[in-house]
Amino acid sequence: MVTVKTMKRWFTSLTVVAFILAAAIFNWSLLVSSKKPSDMEIAFVSDKAQHYSETGDEKLASTAQVPFPSMDVTNINTLDEALIKIQELEKRLKDIEYRIPKKYPEVKFLTFKDRKRILITGGAGFVGSHLVDRLMMEGHEVIVVDNFFTGRKRNVEHWIGHENFELIHHDIVNPLYIEADQVYHLASPASPPHYMYNPVKTIKTNTVGTINVLGLAKRVGARVLIASTSEVYGDPEVHPQTESYWGHVNPIGPRACYDEAKRVSETLAYSYHRQENVEVRVARIFNTYGPRMHMNDGRVVSNFILQALTGQDITIYGSGKQTRSFQYVSDLVDGLIKLQNSNYSLPVNLGNPEEHTITEFAMIIHKMVGGKSHIVNKDAVEDDPQRRKPDITRAKHVLGWEPSVSLQTGIEKTVRYFRKELMRSKHSERNLHIPVDVSNINV
Ligand SMILES: NC(=O)c1ccc[n+]([C@@H]2O[C@H](COP(=O)([O-])OP(=O)(O)OC[C@H]3O[C@@H](n4cnc5c(N)ncnc54)[C@H](O)[C@@H]3O)[C@@H](O)[C@H]2O)c1
Repeated sequence: MVTVKTMKRWFTSLTVVAFILAAAIFNWSLLVSSKKPSDMEIAFVSDKAQHYSETGDEKLASTAQVPFPSMDVTNINTLDEALIKIQELEKRLKDIEYRIPKKYPEVKFLTFKDRKRILITGGAGFVGSHLVDRLMMEGHEVIVVDNFFTGRKRNVEHWIGHENFELIHHDIVNPLYIEADQVYHLASPASPPHYMYNPVKTIKTNTVGTINVLGLAKRVGARVLIASTSEVYGDPEVHPQTESYWGHVNPIGPRACYDEAKRVSETLAYSYHRQENVEVRVARIFNTYGPRMHMNDGRVVSNFILQALTGQDITIYGSGKQTRSFQYVSDLVDGLIKLQNSNYSLPVNLGNPEEHTITEFAMIIHKMVGGKSHIVNKDAVEDDPQRRKPDITRAKHVLGWEPSVSLQTGIEKTVRYFRKELMRSKHSERNLHIPVDVSNINV
């Protein structure tokens, strides 16, 4: 009678035989395809060998000198021998993987005259990582500084190792000494649950952090773009909001740690400009959405999409008559780059003036995702602005900028991203948004 134990043994033996066969085929294919290694491959391998000798690993150094090793799998008689061979094979596979140069999106080549060194604080976050993509594809050198509070290495991992890219784990509340021609200062949590998580830290990041960035810019003569926000207008009494409106902010409310800190950030920028001649640009960013948004961003777009995708009720806080206007992230990135490179130094609103009520948004997303969710209303939250719509006359006039991505297109791309995120269960299941060429950066 065949016991479970016997079946397990058969299964193990079969797996080992399958492994040996796979190893033999792999080895054979290596031998058959072992065309002479190219000069570049040889150079790469000797680089590795040198690296290993420098790190003191003589054994690896000697293996690395052999461009494409082969392995004899013909004399395997026992299970132990097979296991040893498998371990050897695994080691060689790792070695081969290490030798394969990483592929990067094809970036434009800029000569030293046109290539800029650009520092992006908060560059591993949602907006920052899209800005990184665009500037990298344009051929600039990009340095990302991030403390990974809400940002993720994943957002920029496709650039790690590229000669034009550097990622620095650093909290901007501490001073930083770096050479740069331009700075985009984006470091700050952006969504209410994130900035309310540690209000004092939010204030420090936007005040002490901004002082550090402006100090750096002063030392190296760089131009700084400050990522401000429509929240500086608070719960506005003027509609739509123009840059000349001074705002209506509750200084002691739950949102004040962000709103007031961003207001101080703007004040610091203009003080450094007046006192120290630092060139500054101020972008007042309105609600932005797109791929790479945080799953727990906690704002309308991500909340509604996630609720719809997971079949939960779509929750509206308050009557649902409050309005919002949302811009797709690639439009914002266009605006930020145009503003940085313009000769205009007063604040500029960057947002999409197409206004919808929250209930309309809920219905649009519900229709797009489908499913069985119901739209339900809950109590309003404290200090929730009732109307938000940018007046972008200034951006149109001084930058020639206006948003071009429709709500339908933007939401479709974002839903696709969230859907893939929800399906992930392993690190190896990637959901990357790797730019392919300059005309297709924001996939
Ligand atoms: N997304 C929007 O709708 C929106 C709207 C208005 C303004 N903004 C502003 O744009 C900027 C980027 O926003 P986002 O949506 O990409 O947010 P995000 O949270 O995805 O990105 C912010 C990044 O800053 C990093 N960071 C936070 N504190 C830091 C610190 N002390 N030191 C170093 N890094 C730090 C985070 O880790 C993250 O990578 C923020 O300054 C935000 O205030 C965004």
